[in-house]
Amino acid sequence: MTLAELDVLREQSLAELRAAADAAALEPVRIRYLGRNGQIPALMKQLKDVPAADRPEFGRRANAWRAELEAALAGRQTVAAPREDAVPFDPTLPGRWHTLGTMHPISRVIEEVCRIFNRLGFVVADGPDIETRFNNFTALNTPAHHPSLDETDTFWLGADQLLRTQTSPVQIRVMTSQKPPVRIVTPGRCYRRDTTDATHSANFHQIEGLYVDTRPVSLADLKATLACFAREMMGPSVGVRFRPHFFPFTEPSVEVDFSCHVCGGSGCRVCKQSGWIEIAGAGMIDPRVYQLIGYNPEEVYGYAFGMGVERIAMIRYGITDIRHLYENDVRFLGQFA
Ligand code: PHE
Repeated sequence: MTLAELDVLREQSLAELRAAADAAALEPVRIRYLGRNGQIPALMKQLKDVPAADRPEFGRRANAWRAELEAALAGRQTVAAPREDAVPFDPTLPGRWHTLGTMHPISRVIEEVCRIFNRLGFVVADGPDIETRFNNFTALNTPAHHPSLDETDTFWLGADQLLRTQTSPVQIRVMTSQKPPVRIVTPGRCYRRDTTDATHSANFHQIEGLYVDTRPVSLADLKATLACFAREMMGPSVGVRFRPHFFPFTEPSVEVDFSCHVCGGSGCRVCKQSGWIEIAGAGMIDPRVYQLIGYNPEEVYGYAFGMGVERIAMIRYGITDIRHLYENDVRFLGQFA
């Protein structure tokens, strides 16, 4: 090959490069000239056949050509050829809005309730959503024929396992693993086979409280503690009353009402004209529970209480339908920023 032929070949390769429309079209050009069996490596092998006088100049031009091609290819490959569907940059478009999430009202209430009880010496304890029959019912002195054990009330996962229907089993977990005194609050999810309506959900949250000590603890202590909680939560003018009730694991048992925060106790639609709103179940731990978990009923005193988180959230924020709490509609949730 002569120097003139080399120049023709170089011109041709550059023209092919310019003609290639995109990266895919560049590749065959690269292979044809720079590939292992391409033109330039072949030329280098033929160098010995070039007349000796031309040889140095031939080698120089061939190397320069290779460098030129490589540089041109690199340039073409990094600057991607314009795509037909590319959207042009429009600086007049409005910016993207990065919204911040807010804390869910359920989480807010849990945090607030736990914070109040923390100050009263209660620590947060945790338990699993899947419980045993023993922890959820038997140890809580609930007889096997009690209606709450029924298929229609409880989500059973087998003969012995279930989705807990209350947070009270955490009491059992803590008492079977710890000596008194224990003073805990346990927020968590609960499950019941309830048909969903404005005030019921098959999945809801409770916060349980438990205080057991070897020093005398009375119903008066329970009431004082809950009254203190009520004032912290609802303000100084809130009233608290106990109504006799029944729970299998407390004796005596009470239901706890707070005076209506809307009418202040005179009666309105929210409290159904009664002036009171039911907030919690509570009572002194039944001696039978102590026996079942291995405490000596003669040596310990204690109370427990349990409240519905959704109920408190609804009262607190004036939410009229429990379902709003589960629909994850940002228009609703954004109001609690
Ligand atoms: N676990 C009871 C319920 O779900 C509430 C409760 C808790 C009552 C603790 C007394 C003591 O109805």
